[in-house]
Amino acid sequence: MEPTLTIRSSSGEYPIWVGANIRKQAGMLLKDILSGKSKVLIVTDRKVGSAYLTEVSEAFAPFLPVETAVLPAGEETKSFTQYENLPTKALEKGLDRQSIIVALGGGVIGDIAGFMAATYMRGIPFIQMPTTLLAHDSSVGGKTGINHPLGKNMVGAFHQPKAVLYDTNTLLTLPDEEWRSGFAEMIKHAYISNQEFVELLKKKVQSISDLKSDQIKDLLTRSIQVKADIVQDDEKESGVRGYLNFGHTLGHAIEKT
Ligand code: GLY
Repeated sequence: MEPTLTIRSSSGEYPIWVGANIRKQAGMLLKDILSGKSKVLIVTDRKVGSAYLTEVSEAFAPFLPVETAVLPAGEETKSFTQYENLPTKALEKGLDRQSIIVALGGGVIGDIAGFMAATYMRGIPFIQMPTTLLAHDSSVGGKTGINHPLGKNMVGAFHQPKAVLYDTNTLLTLPDEEWRSGFAEMIKHAYISNQEFVELLKKKVQSISDLKSDQIKDLLTRSIQVKADIVQDDEKESGVRGYLNFGHTLGHAIEKT
């Protein structure tokens, strides 16, 4: 299956697949990336893990030995304490520099697992498997990190994923508020890119149930393409990447209240 999109980054190109039920083909789709690796550590949270960890582990098992780390769900997980647990687990399970991390979950898991990959043994590869609509922003572009008591995302690294595998079926069980917050990110991408995308969203999405349909793949792909175009131009946020913070920084402030 050809990737839906390919992203250029300083550490090479990486593929993005968007599709229904593709979590079950993860090992097969990623087999070139997994080739020569020693082990995979799937990092997830309790909520996502209870729904998908078994089948995602099974999808990787024919290709590599699989280890798992299950963290509590929620923003509090992006903490020094939870971060420290990951290298401990990885060392106990014998992960080495040839190992690979899979982030299976929303933005919190993508950020902490990505940061673990950026720092474990001075950096190992990782794969993003987002399971929320909102994570279509955070899973692309290589921002990883955890929170500091004095500020969100204050400790982190730019570390590009080797691939992003987006199973649209994992979105179907999300509560409406998660769809709304993910759709807000899509609207942001539309406003910072072109009027035609804004008009398309206005026409096609009158309610959240319009999103929970076959058209989600196309809308997601289009929204990720906006992000891709920006991060390909400005990976480290010295210019246009700042546009992606439109409404985003304010959102962080509202979350804190
Ligand atoms: N979420 C904003 C960015 O990736 O730059």
